[in-house]
Formats: sequence, C-alpha cells, structure tokens
Amino acid sequence: MADLTQRLFGTQWQSPVLLASGTCGYGEEYAELIPLDEIGGIVTKAVSLEPRSGNPPHRVSETPGGMINAIGLQNVGLAAFIREKLPWLRDNLVRARVLINVVGHTEDEFEAVVAGLDGEDGFLGFEINVSCPNVKDGTLFGTDPAGLAGLVATLRRATARPLVVKLTPNVPDIGLYARICEENGADGLSTINTFPGMLIDVGKRRPVIGNVSGGVSGPAILPMGVYLTWRARQSSSLPILGIGGIRSSDDALQYILAGASLVQIGTALFVDPEVAVAVHRGVEAYCTESETPLRELVGGVQIPDRD
Ligand SMILES: Cc1cc2nc3c(=O)[nH]c(=O)nc-3n(C[C@H](O)[C@H](O)[C@H](O)COP(=O)(O)O)c2cc1C
Repeated sequence: MADLTQRLFGTQWQSPVLLASGTCGYGEEYAELIPLDEIGGIVTKAVSLEPRSGNPPHRVSETPGGMINAIGLQNVGLAAFIREKLPWLRDNLVRARVLINVVGHTEDEFEAVVAGLDGEDGFLGFEINVSCPNVKDGTLFGTDPAGLAGLVATLRRATARPLVVKLTPNVPDIGLYARICEENGADGLSTINTFPGMLIDVGKRRPVIGNVSGGVSGPAILPMGVYLTWRARQSSSLPILGIGGIRSSDDALQYILAGASLVQIGTALFVDPEVAVAVHRGVEAYCTESETPLRELVGGVQIPDRD
C-alpha cells in the first residue's frame, strides 16, 4: 500500500486531501455525507471577530467551467464559533486536521480572532484569509506587501500554532507575497483563492450577482492555480496547500508535482460530495503504481531544459 502520510506543521497527515474553506461549513454539515475523519482535514468557513451577515442575493451562479460566488464571508463570529462550532470539531475529528480560516477588517481584528482561539482545543492552526475578492477590504492585506508583512509578523507573535497564509492570485508576482509570508514567520501558504469576476444578465441588463462582482472558482481556474503554486514554490520553501479547480486525482497530482504538499477541494464538492475520498484513492493508486511515497512527488515536475 502506498505511503500517503506526511509530517507537516508539527503533526502527522494521513492524507493530502482537505476540504476548502467556505465549501464545507464548519465540518458538521458535511459529516453525514462522507467519513470526514478519514481525509486529510478541513478548513473551516471564515471566522471574523463579529458575526457577518454577508452580501445581498444572488450570491452564487454557475459559469462555464465553474461558479462565481459573493457570499461575503457570512459567519457566526468568534464567540459563537467557539461556543457552537468548535466543540463538534474537537469531539469528532481525531485524525483529520482542522485549520480555522480567519478574516478581519484590520490587523487588530485578525489578531483578536487568532488570540481568541489560540487557547482553545479542537484545531491545529490557522489559515489567514487575505485574499477574498468579494468583500470590499478582502484583499487589502493580500495585495499590499508592507501590510502583509506587518500582519503576518503580528499574528506570529499572537500564536505558536501553524500559521498558513492564503494568497490571492490577483497580484503581478505571487512569489513576492510568498517570500514576505516566509520572512515574517508564516509556516505555510495556501495557493490560491478565487479570481474576481462578473456576470451580466443581458435580459435585465443587470449584474447576476447581488454584490456586482464575485470570486470565480472551479475547473476553469485549475491551470492558474497550478502555475501560481509552482511560482510560489520557486520563491519560498514553506509547505504549500494547493487549491483551485481540483475534481480528480490527476488534478490533485498536478498541484503536488507543482509543489503542493497538501491540496484542498472546494467547488467540486457541490457536484459530488464524495469527490475528496475519490481523489485520495486516486492519489494512493498513483503512488502505488509508481512505487513512490507521496512526499517524494511534491515539487517533482520535470521542467525540460530550454536553450
Ligand atoms: C461558496 C464559496 C465560499 C468560499 N468561502 C471562502 C472563505 O470563507 N474563506 C476563504 O479563504 N476562501 C473561501 N472560498 C474559496 C475556496 O476556499 C477556494 O480557495 C476556491 O474556491 C478555489 O478552489 P475550488 O476551485 O476548488 O473551489 C470560497 C469558495 C466558494 C466557492
């Protein structure tokens, strides 16, 4: 049997496959559909200091090759998350790892959420969301080198837990942002969040999405995600969680060969909730057939010499 285990962020991972933030709620919603504790882990829906009610409808729409969403980081807020959501994660996920996705309007808010959760049980670490395109200030830190450096340094002081920064694809050079995260104490990178996009209802001559624009996800963004993962890998030695358009084990393996140690699946879950288990099995079969442990495949893409 192939060896899919890896030691990352100070812990053992039984599988490289996680469910992406915003597409699996806080875990409990998903547990009836698949054996959650058998996959690599989950990243929770974003948690902010205060509850957020999100954007006006419509919040989602299908596009060719994926979907567009402008949920607007709707969530129950820090206090209710600790009271109502975290206990389930603590009691039910033993082998699957939990990362809590964190958002804030300001550095202080990010810090308050991280500090407020730090002493609680039931999760491994944080995924810092500086890359949400569908709220006004969602990419403020993710597109500002100085702001990102300050934020990561502050959060590093606030917690000793794994700190993963989720990067936006919407910058000229993702490598710069990857390096900034590493230099300021992050433990890992998630590449990538959604791309900003817009759909127009030509009959009504109005935007389809209530927020006017939203984030594009799904198979359409796979090549960009693979490329940006590869670019981030070249600029930083931090472990990477590859995300964007994954719906098969071949898709996941592309991210792994590009440099991702772990992968996350989002939009594809809405088509087939069992896709994460199928991707895990497919990666396992690939490792078995090639007699290669998973960790040896990470970053293993062979780039031909060019004159
Ligand atoms: C409905 C929806 C909600 C999302 N909510 C969040 C969120 O709260 N925080 C976050 O960092 N990313 C969020 N994302 C982005 C995903 O985690 C992921 O980065 C993106 O969708 C690309 O992966 P995919 O193509 O597999 O969906 C959301 C995506 C979707 C489709």
